[in-house]
Amino acid sequence: MTQTVLLAGATGMLGGRIAHHLLAQPDAKVRLLVRGGGSSKKQAALAPLLNAGAELIEGDLGDTVALDRATQGIDMIVSAVQGGPDVIIDGQLALAEAGKRNGVRRILPSDFGLDLFKATQGEHAAFNWRARADDVIAQLGMEHIHILQGGFMDLFGPGSPLLDYDKGVVQFWGDGTQPVEITSVEDTARMTARVALDRTVPSGKFAFAGDYVSFLEAAELAAAKTGRSFERRWLGSEADLRAAMAKAANTDPMQAIMLAYQLYMLNGQTALTHLQNNRYPDIQLTKFPDFLARRLAAQG
Ligand SMILES: NC(=O)c1ccc[n+]([C@@H]2O[C@H](COP(=O)([O-])OP(=O)(O)OC[C@H]3O[C@@H](n4cnc5c(N)ncnc54)[C@H](OP(=O)(O)O)[C@@H]3O)[C@@H](O)[C@H]2O)c1
Repeated sequence: MTQTVLLAGATGMLGGRIAHHLLAQPDAKVRLLVRGGGSSKKQAALAPLLNAGAELIEGDLGDTVALDRATQGIDMIVSAVQGGPDVIIDGQLALAEAGKRNGVRRILPSDFGLDLFKATQGEHAAFNWRARADDVIAQLGMEHIHILQGGFMDLFGPGSPLLDYDKGVVQFWGDGTQPVEITSVEDTARMTARVALDRTVPSGKFAFAGDYVSFLEAAELAAAKTGRSFERRWLGSEADLRAAMAKAANTDPMQAIMLAYQLYMLNGQTALTHLQNNRYPDIQLTKFPDFLARRLAAQG
């Protein structure tokens, strides 16, 4: 039976891939909620999605009229938006409430990380915003599914802010050996599209991970695949990291969030459990060595 999905965030990095995989499902009709205006790059990102049959509704998460128009006739909402609390809390709640008013059955909010529900209040703003929005959304009475796939594998590949492939440097807090769950953007999008349409998935967390890798393992693998050595730069202990977070909280909130991601990668507090990697036998999640080999080959 055909189901109609509303996707918010289709012009984004992850949302564009989710749109692609939703459109590839034989039993899905796809509507995109997209803010008006924007660059030619944004129009170029939308063109293949519209050509593949997506319907476009122009609107901002702050526009209730547009949200009502966008959610009418929709079975489920997938959100892949990104932003501050105005987007993640206020915007997503407005979207969910419009969905509730218009009979939407299910929503997948823009979670896409480690287990943000285990974050300490006040320690990781981006996780706390999502958990707060998700709590309120859960009370609306719609089915609600939280996609949790760990960090994006892409963050450990070439162009990474964590490992500098050009300079051959890996920077890490702690001893650098804590493995963390990682999944490629492509696999995250593929799984999200399947879960969104799968009526048998119950409300709650839906976790999976393509691989586990520590900073030092990632650097060793990068060295083996590129043939260059990676200098190890120790940034400090967990206590040093917490001190840096406290300082950044007053001066640079974005930096504080970046450090909080590092904290939870280091101490495992938000580790994923009950992984559903094998739920769909035709989806084989990519391992980091294969991902890296493909990325490096594509670079030439
Ligand atoms: N686990 C990880 O390692 C990791 C890494 C990166 C991202 N993520 C998560 O993945 C999700 C998507 O992130 P991303 O990097 O793909 O985001 P992105 O590329 O910045 O895209 C964000 C999308 O949200 C849309 N948007 C923002 N504010 C909006 C509003 N008020 N109304 C309507 N649309 C709005 C943007 O539309 P415009 O084009 O109009 O701006 C864009 O389509 C987020 O939950 C993020 O935290 C996880």
